[in-house]
Amino acid sequence: MSSRLALIVTLAGIISLSVMFFLFSPPKNCPFPLPRPESKSSLTGTVEDKPVLLLWVWPENYRFDFSDCKKFYNIDNCQLTDDRSLYSNADAVMVYHRGISWDLTNLPPSPRPPFQKWIWLHLESPTNTQKIPGLENLFNLTLSYRHDADIPVRLKLNTRKKPDEEFVIPKKDKLVCWIVSNNAAFTGVGTRNQFYQELSKYIQVHMFGKAYATFLGYDEYYPTLASCKFYLSFENSIHKDYITEKINGPLAAGTVPVVLGPPRRNYENFVPGDAFIHVNDFPDAKSLAEYLLQLDKDEEAYRRFFNWRKYLSPTPHLIHQTQEFILAICTACDHIARHREYKEAHDIYDWYFS
Ligand SMILES: *[C@@H]1O[C@H](CO)[C@@H](O)[C@H](O)[C@H]1NC(C)=O
Repeated sequence: MSSRLALIVTLAGIISLSVMFFLFSPPKNCPFPLPRPESKSSLTGTVEDKPVLLLWVWPENYRFDFSDCKKFYNIDNCQLTDDRSLYSNADAVMVYHRGISWDLTNLPPSPRPPFQKWIWLHLESPTNTQKIPGLENLFNLTLSYRHDADIPVRLKLNTRKKPDEEFVIPKKDKLVCWIVSNNAAFTGVGTRNQFYQELSKYIQVHMFGKAYATFLGYDEYYPTLASCKFYLSFENSIHKDYITEKINGPLAAGTVPVVLGPPRRNYENFVPGDAFIHVNDFPDAKSLAEYLLQLDKDEEAYRRFFNWRKYLSPTPHLIHQTQEFILAICTACDHIARHREYKEAHDIYDWYFS
């Protein structure tokens, strides 16, 4: 045997031995499988990976980075995606009502995987809702501002454990303000416009927004609200629980909301009764105006509208138009991570319009 051949044989032997060692050697880490970092045990067993939530279409094409759920609301317990190739593996699919075509051809395909839940995403009030036929019994979960939705969406006031004695009412240089971006009659704004017409006969109202000449930039929203003593939180249409960011804005900014919407008792499900003024507390717009003018002169009485601040803290809402659906989508993510139960939602319109 030539020395050259001997060298080749030896090298081949070494290589094949090391390959075999590599392939068949036991894993170097401990012999007991370690739990995966995300897994938690619960009453119903072990929860494996994060559930996948597929956003079927982007609502109004307002895209955002899914990591915003963690950034703004500290929610990251599901895997959000808009990648339709993950459809057959998605634990839940969210469908935006206003994005559904009347012939239903742009709905996710059938058959759907047996474990998959469809979420009906809709944030408008019944006045501004088109009843597209054929959707009544398709969904498992409803997502809406309604308190009795499967997934209710709302920014809430949070309780403080330690009273906050520090709150200072922002400096005011205007009495009553109103920002109006939508003034299209078909959206049901007749009631609030009529009330405003009457009110403005007795008290000056500073108007801002798209519907008026003074357009506000996003960065001017909270400072403008803060500079007014009162803000008209007038909903476009009147429905139970339809209490929107129109009241959250002034509460967060340090301004007293004057609300027009569902009855006072409904507001008090979400906001303390002494934090706002309800137009129905007065026989007419004139007496409301008189009350506001009187409060303008009575600092003590005005200050009492902020007593709630001691025990509760508001959360400013996101104000860019493209951020409109972030809270809803993140709330759905959190919901499906916490709820795996079977559920069907029947007659969504019957529920929604009644
Ligand atoms: C979801 O709802 C559909 C339609 O009602 C139903 O067929 C399906 O079994 C439900 N799935 C789950 C996982 O709840």
